[in-house]
Formats: sequence, C-alpha cells, structure tokens
Amino acid sequence: MDRNLALEFVRITEAAALASAKWTGHGNEKAADQAAVDAMRKAFDTVRIDGTVVIGEGERDEAPMLFIGEKVGLKKEDSPAIDIALDPLEGTTICATGGVGAISVIAFAERGGFLHAPDTYMDKIATGPNAKGMIDIDLSPTENIHRVAEGNKKPIGDVTVVILNRPRHKELIAEVRKTGARIHLIDDGDVSAAVASGWADSGIDLLMGIGGAPEGVISAAAMRCMGGDFQGRLKYRNESEKERALKMGVKDLNQKFTLEELARGPVMFCATGVTDGPLLKGVKILAGGRAQTQSIVMRSQTGTIRHVDAYHNFSLKKALH
Ligand code: FBP
Repeated sequence: MDRNLALEFVRITEAAALASAKWTGHGNEKAADQAAVDAMRKAFDTVRIDGTVVIGEGERDEAPMLFIGEKVGLKKEDSPAIDIALDPLEGTTICATGGVGAISVIAFAERGGFLHAPDTYMDKIATGPNAKGMIDIDLSPTENIHRVAEGNKKPIGDVTVVILNRPRHKELIAEVRKTGARIHLIDDGDVSAAVASGWADSGIDLLMGIGGAPEGVISAAAMRCMGGDFQGRLKYRNESEKERALKMGVKDLNQKFTLEELARGPVMFCATGVTDGPLLKGVKILAGGRAQTQSIVMRSQTGTIRHVDAYHNFSLKKALH
C-alpha cells in the first residue's frame, strides 16, 4: 500500500472526529455517530482508492452509509483495491457523556486482508511487542499475566490489565485481582485500550475480555503495525449470530483467530482522538474558529508510527468549499 496514502487517510479520521466532537457531552449518541459517519463518508470521496467497506456501520438495510460492502473512494484506473475496517465513532456513549477515550478509527488492508467479522462479540487478548508470541487466549488469565510480566520485565504487581467494566467479566476481574496485577476498568472503547497495550509508554500491558468482534479486527490491524500481539475468539449470543458468522465465511465457530488471521498482509491504521484518552488527546476547540486534533497513523510494512498534531482553521476551510 502506497505510503503516501497514510496522510490522506488521516484527513478522514480527523474530519469524523471534528464532526462528532461537536456533540461531546450532549447526551445524544445517535447524533454524534451520525455526524461522524457523514463526515467520514464525505472525506472518503477525496481519496484515490478503490475502497470496499468490509467492517462498517452494519448491513446495507440498517446503515444508510458506510455499510458492509459499500464502495468508497475516488476510484480511478490505477486506484489500489483496498479493504476498509472502520468505526467513525468508537465509543459513542463516551462521546455523548464527554467521557474518556472516544476515537474515530479506520484500518486498511489489501483486498482480502481482513477477517469478515460478524457483528458479534469476541473474546480478546492484546499485548505489546515485548510479550509478542508469549500470550495465548487458551491459557488462563493468570498464566497470561505471568508471561506478560516476564516479557515486559515487570513484577506482577506493576502489570496493568485493561478490562471492559461489564458483569460478564466478574470472574475474570476476580482472577486478575488474585494475581496481584493492577486493573484499569473502562466503560467503553476497547480499541483505544488494545492499542494502548501495544504502546510501550502507555502504562498498559494487557487487554483482556469480551468486546465487539468488529473492534477486534480493527485492533488487530493496529497491533500488526505496532509489532504487538492479539488473539480473538468469536462469542455468540444466539443461533442467528452463529448462522451469520457461517454466512460471512467463518468455518469453525470456535476458532482461535491469531493476529495474522484477523489482519493479513500490509495494513495501515489511523485514528483521531474525539475525547481525551490513553492513546490520543481529544479534539480541542480553540478561539477564533480553530480546533486542534491529535491522530496516530501506522503502517505494518515499515512499523513507522506517526503522531499527527493538526490545527484546523474553519473560517479558511469554509471559504475553500
Ligand atoms: P460503540 O462505539 O459501538 O458504542 O462501541 C463501544 C464499545 O465499548 C467497544 O469499544 C466494545 O468493543 C463494545 O462496545 C463492547 O460492547 P458492549 O457495550 O455491548 O459490552
């Protein structure tokens, strides 16, 4: 994938973050999400790619835009064929309540690079480069924590595990507490948390627990770029979710998906903060019709990780449109 696309892609998540940030704390999840979707869809039209959304806002009949299978991008004869996994606003509730860690995020792969994950849950484990190859979702949380402590050269008591604060994680939380590891419970937003576990200086060593499967694929793309590790296993609430998974090409409903099975080949990952979080600062509205955004752009081919701080001047942008 052409490296020049990286900075084109960041404009797309910036646009979505700026649009949804206007709804920060308004208590209106739908409006915040819609603003992000509209802005992201519009921004795609300026990028020369032959893009297909493979992880998006849902099916065509339930999502008017950025639905699975939708074609995006300004397609020209030589445009690269790219599969896209996106979440215009990851953490809609976070944005609506002005909480911590909402982001706008997109991952890109060459055609066929992403697992076509159904909108079910996924049991996940993620860690950074130091413990790559040492984690295994089939092992107990205790064993995984010990291995990550060894990889990250920390005593267990200094290992921090992020877990979504959900009743389904009662036993997991109890077991992690027994090991002596620290726990950071989050209300939402496990993509940010997974990416933070891959970032050496975030203070987060491990993500564990069940969250959305589409978010799992997006997180895996980020971990490919960061040299970290990720594994997932789909979790179904009912028979129709199982049927849906089979229809989308999953062969073994109980399969353990490794990092490469979730995100193969060259991938890119791009995210912009909407509200302040462990990974990125949120949109800051400045005086004089300006705003500041912070984004991260990463490529698996080179392992380059860029932080992009941008100042936006809306009066000039308006004059251009
Ligand atoms: P949304 O942005 O779709 O609201 O997802 C937020 C999120 O917290 C994800 O980060 C996470 O994977 C999933 O929801 C967890 O699902 P649930 O809230 O049903 O436990």
